[in-house]
Amino acid sequence: MTAVRPDTAPKQAPETAQFPPGFVWGAATAAYQVEGAATEDGRTPSIWDTFSHTPGKVHNGDTGDVAADHYHRYRDDVALMKRIGLTAYRFSVSWSRVQPTGRGPAVERGLDFYRRLVDELLEAGISPVATLYHWDLPQELEDAGGWPQRETAERFADYAALVAGALGDRVPTWTTFNEPWCTAFLGYGSGVHAPGRTEPAAALRAAHHLNLAHGRAIEVLRDRLPATARTSVTLNLHHVRPLGDAPADADAARRIDAVGNRIFTGPMLRGAYPEDLLADTAHLVDWSTLVRDGDLAAASRPVDLLGVNYYTPTVVSAPVDGRGDARDDGHGNSDHSPWPGSEHVAFHLAEGRKRTAMNWVIDPDGLYRLLLDVSREHPGLPLMVTENGAAFEDHVTPDGRVEDPERIDYLHGHLDAVRRAAADGVDVRGYFLWSLMDNFEWAYGYSKRFGAVHVDYATQRRTPKASAHWYADAIRRHALPPRTGPR
Ligand code: FCB
Repeated sequence: MTAVRPDTAPKQAPETAQFPPGFVWGAATAAYQVEGAATEDGRTPSIWDTFSHTPGKVHNGDTGDVAADHYHRYRDDVALMKRIGLTAYRFSVSWSRVQPTGRGPAVERGLDFYRRLVDELLEAGISPVATLYHWDLPQELEDAGGWPQRETAERFADYAALVAGALGDRVPTWTTFNEPWCTAFLGYGSGVHAPGRTEPAAALRAAHHLNLAHGRAIEVLRDRLPATARTSVTLNLHHVRPLGDAPADADAARRIDAVGNRIFTGPMLRGAYPEDLLADTAHLVDWSTLVRDGDLAAASRPVDLLGVNYYTPTVVSAPVDGRGDARDDGHGNSDHSPWPGSEHVAFHLAEGRKRTAMNWVIDPDGLYRLLLDVSREHPGLPLMVTENGAAFEDHVTPDGRVEDPERIDYLHGHLDAVRRAAADGVDVRGYFLWSLMDNFEWAYGYSKRFGAVHVDYATQRRTPKASAHWYADAIRRHALPPRTGPR
């Protein structure tokens, strides 16, 4: 989303104000990042297994083979969630655990894990939010061409049917994709994510097939789920800001908004690709043959909720005077930019602002403005913040505590942004902290800790950080506690 107009400058609601009634307090994880048990009960490699086992792709050669061992420790983890007071848990389903080749019947032992997890959550009074795809394509489907192949969209719809059949009676909220932008552009563009391909045209083809797959899956879910179930998709909408007032900077922001945001919100929420996106990328793909009759009608099947993930804003300018960096856009190091057309854009890290261990600039107002922008552009569509959080260097003290005041500060600022947006009329239904616990942070391996709960990977010991206690306090009050909460 491009920057908000000045008439929506933040209004001051009292800091102690309550969150809206029914506001959901959640935490999120993803299958490959936490489960481990990579070869158990019939699971086969996904593209992330292959990628992480390829030397040089992931920091320190880390893999998700064991991760946080959630597959075996889910009971203890749900007990932890209950202690924090979470009202919802967002997890993802591993496709190759459920359907190892990406085709054909389900492996019941794989589905059983999710049945057990969902039962445990319901027993604890925690509402499950299931994401069908958080980046872990079965390797066999990648070998057949992956997301740049249209066939993969049809396979995804079949897989959605299997999971809906198994969990549909007990999971009230469903998400097709987590951050399809990352799947398409980090997976097939810059190659910093699995499967590690660096083909800009393939990235755009992948984006279209993800839109199509989303729509096909929504159709399948609507068909199989009870009428009360809610469907959604989660997008990492970039809050794009031009660096200066120059028209060339505004044009750089427009380009990134097109290929970062509207490439998904267009087909999914409006039933059309934006004209400027088609023009900007016409030298890479022939959209007229890529998009077939009926695709846009399929992609735009209505959803009940839009999930928004936000970590940091995206500041861009035209690449003049050597300003900024064409490649350093915060998404990992590669000689290849994930952004088609990046030769027209330079990325900037706002100077003088605090940053997280990911080197991401901390800017809670970006979340406030993003929520206002999205709700204005898509009126009537309820929003959910499905990820927000921060990595910092956390250490367990000799007496077994983890003090993480910077994370508390981050959460306070961003939850306050959500509360202000709600007070200003945005229909935002909940907030999911990323992440419940430290986990495999993709190309960064285990070197970045995003959890509210610390994980000692040698022992799998869990230690709730001070931020987990602070978040628990927020949930109890249904309002923001002071920045340095109780322990
Ligand atoms: C998001 C991903 C999530 C995690 C956070 C830090 O882009 O969805 O899995 O890696 O970033």
